[in-house]
Amino acid sequence: MNFIKVDSYEKLSNMAADIIANVVKENKNAVLGLATGSSPLGTYARLIEKYNAGELDFSGVTSVNLDEYVGLDGDNDQSYRYFMNKNLFKHINIDINKTSVPNGCAKDLNKEGEAYDKMIEELGGIDIQLLGIGLDGHIGFNEPDEFFTKETHLVDLDESTIEANSRFFASKDEVPKQAITMGMYSIMQAKKVLLIANGKSKREIVEKAFFGPITPYVPASILQLHKDVTVIYSEN
Ligand code: F6R
Repeated sequence: MNFIKVDSYEKLSNMAADIIANVVKENKNAVLGLATGSSPLGTYARLIEKYNAGELDFSGVTSVNLDEYVGLDGDNDQSYRYFMNKNLFKHINIDINKTSVPNGCAKDLNKEGEAYDKMIEELGGIDIQLLGIGLDGHIGFNEPDEFFTKETHLVDLDESTIEANSRFFASKDEVPKQAITMGMYSIMQAKKVLLIANGKSKREIVEKAFFGPITPYVPASILQLHKDVTVIYSEN
């Protein structure tokens, strides 16, 4: 594992964007696994800057996102599809038809999960998976449990996740209670994994996840078994 500690969110974002940019430069048809939340905002802003500077071409790139809230469609400004369009896709030359976010409004969420995994498999897997980490150690929305789940699946969000994510909603009651998330198989099959975390509040979980025992009660700890994982942590 490559564990990098930096002293600012700006450095974290620059470094993460450089790593993703290199993947795109080396392979114009790269498959990017993307995340939402506050952590990647700076990384996406840097990628947009690089695109505007003519350094990057996303026209051949495909993207797959980790997760989506159940019941929110892409027009809902709290949905992760909306987040991705707003914070990245509409600013770069990615083909929107080559961007995927699980459909949280699918009638049959099990089928949606199966189709999502099949789609990733058919793409040949993910070249680089960007991840944040939840305060409870979740990656995607793989919440602490007795076991790791392989497939893209429906999850009941933990109380701590609902609490943490309520900052984006008018009230806690509005936070969806369920989500659909990529499972550990697609994440662990990614050729590279890049996890970014910032803030003092994440320090304890980052230590547990990367320097503690590998356990489904700290879902991110499974990444210790991945052969090419970079963790960038900034306390600020
Ligand atoms: C988002 C996701 C989540 C977040 C995590 C951290 O797509 O999969 O695992 O990465 O909840 O969120 P932030 O970055 O908002 O602290």
